[in-house]
Amino acid sequence: MGRIDRLLADMSLGEKIGQLNMAASYRAVTGPAAPDGLEEGVRSGRVGSVLNLWGSAEVHALQRLALEESRLRIPLLVGLDAMHGHRTIFPIPLAEACLFDPDTWRETARTTAAEAAADGVNLTFAPMVDVARDPRWGRIAESPGEDPWVASEFAVAKTRGFQGSDLRAAGSVAATTKHLGAYGAVTAGREYASVDVSERTLHEVHLPAFAAAVAAGTAAIMPAFVEIAGVPVTANGALLRDWLRGRCAFDGVVISDYNAIAELRAHGVAADTAEAAALALRAGIDIDMASETYVRGLPAALQRGLVGQAELEASVLRVLRLKERLGLLDDPYGRGTAAGAAMTARPLAREVARRAVVLLTQRRKVLPISADTRHIAVIGPLGSAPREMLGPWAAAGRPEETVTTLEGLRTALPHCRIEFSPGVATAAVDPHGIPAAIELCRTAQLVVLCVGEDASMSGEGGSRAELGLPGCQRALAEAVLDVGKPVIVLLSSGRPLALPWLFERADAVLATWFLGSEAGHAIADVLTGEFNPSGRLPVTWPRHVGQAPIFYGQRPSGRPAKAGERLSSTYLDVPATPQFPFGHGLSSSSFTLCDLRCAPHVLRATDSIEVSVGVRNDSASGGEATLFLFSSDPLASISRPLLELKAVRRIALAAGARGSVGWHLPVAALAFPGAQLAPVLEPGRFGIHVGQSADREQLLSCEIELTA
Ligand code: NOJ
Repeated sequence: MGRIDRLLADMSLGEKIGQLNMAASYRAVTGPAAPDGLEEGVRSGRVGSVLNLWGSAEVHALQRLALEESRLRIPLLVGLDAMHGHRTIFPIPLAEACLFDPDTWRETARTTAAEAAADGVNLTFAPMVDVARDPRWGRIAESPGEDPWVASEFAVAKTRGFQGSDLRAAGSVAATTKHLGAYGAVTAGREYASVDVSERTLHEVHLPAFAAAVAAGTAAIMPAFVEIAGVPVTANGALLRDWLRGRCAFDGVVISDYNAIAELRAHGVAADTAEAAALALRAGIDIDMASETYVRGLPAALQRGLVGQAELEASVLRVLRLKERLGLLDDPYGRGTAAGAAMTARPLAREVARRAVVLLTQRRKVLPISADTRHIAVIGPLGSAPREMLGPWAAAGRPEETVTTLEGLRTALPHCRIEFSPGVATAAVDPHGIPAAIELCRTAQLVVLCVGEDASMSGEGGSRAELGLPGCQRALAEAVLDVGKPVIVLLSSGRPLALPWLFERADAVLATWFLGSEAGHAIADVLTGEFNPSGRLPVTWPRHVGQAPIFYGQRPSGRPAKAGERLSSTYLDVPATPQFPFGHGLSSSSFTLCDLRCAPHVLRATDSIEVSVGVRNDSASGGEATLFLFSSDPLASISRPLLELKAVRRIALAAGARGSVGWHLPVAALAFPGAQLAPVLEPGRFGIHVGQSADREQLLSCEIELTA
């Protein structure tokens, strides 16, 4: 008998259930208030893991209780949302996705893991890989955007980064890929609302990233809070047991979301705590996060025969195995040996942050700021807002260690007079400060206008029905634009904002999201020309909130949109096209693509397509182009999306230089879920398209034929 089986054999019922009980600590609060008695719970074996705790002293003190005062001396899992950094905060995931760079995604996760582990954390509730196509949903900020292929690449890179090649290593933490299901598809973008997607959309769009994370070895999975077509994911055996454990062969731990098992009663599928506990355990949830439903409900559920000992023990074994894989059974104090996490990665944070900036428009050449600029007015509530730069949920990040736009510009341009006026608060409706801000603009040569959302306006519980500028920021922006000085707008937000009036009037607009600890330096790098912007949108940017959900992977309509034609797939009052397509992003360079080649033209299922394209930098600035390779399948047994992303490559080219980019695309990548949702590869013609965004008008295309 191995040590884990021996441990299990020695456990009382209470101790078994304790291993499945994750208690909340009060270091951070990310859900409804948790019950008291954490320490007593650990001593008595009623608590097997904790969340929201960090700091080596705090973690070791609790770990010591488990190891020295509980009967079985089993160490604790210590979990925390280290979503985009721990002490060093990187850009929010939506912003980091703009890099389209899996190596960097992995590196930031690796750094995050090292910092979190130095603070005693051994499990993170990340990555979040929910495909998000509705910018009203606040958690789009935490997601890698709208595309299932990107979400899958993100899932793999992050999982590998967090876990490293050895989960036992002192700098590794277990990844929890979340939130399984189709959380991003909540009705009308409203947080925690009902989800009703087809099985096809579930399998085509929402599940691939989770399958990819499992294949990459994610230690844990967290189901979404929501219900899909009437079945809460927390009790969804078809998804958790049949698909995740069965089809994907996932043998790790499933951790419920915060209080989600208790909420099965509110969903109207469990009559009492025992039923809620039984539904979740039977569906395959191993750990109950913060609801104590397993502790309170499983004994009765067992007695009533709602669930069996075998199911309970299978879950306990999975939890113990994770503790063993993490090295906790051998070296429980191996993490948290440093005095506390230091900020180890400021240069990396700055590099990633400047690469995450997306230059949305430049109507007049105002970038980079010319060297003879001597007086700049920084205007707007987000110009000097350190807390906001960290984004909606930044764990151990510290505002006092965060560089604001104002500070970044003052450091980068020491000889320039840089004055600041917030003008208005982000959300309050009080225009009193506008005149003072306008006074500053009148004397300055250039205005940097910092508007957008507070960090708390996105993230969990951050759904919005409008996608405009909150409060009276529009009045401020219009007054600033009326002055007639050159205006560069920095848009801080956790989502695309629908601001067509601003894009029409401002000289340049940059999406600066929430860029993290180094936000201000990164922004200054871009504005001063130290760095040529290269970020590309991982989401389609709407003109109007009424276009949501919006994404490029639409299926063909029988009556495609035609301007001015009423009986076509469009709106009467807003164009059907987005403000900016997926992949959009300008820079000081401009690139032309030519000579798309695909070979061979006729292939079999086991072949690969060699694709190449020429790229020319037509400008006087060196820069980086991002090339997207899409496929299309114009005739199939199931109508296919007009474009499907299959690969992305970036290429850096000096001014005037030419280069080429090549791909080796396995034909198998053209498979899709057939009528029974199993992958099928149907013979026929396929389009291969390459471009700098998903704008179909701008793509280069060729065709290949798959023979039977
Ligand atoms: C609720 C969120 O939905 C989840 O993503 C997070 O991991 C937990 N709270 C813990 O903070």
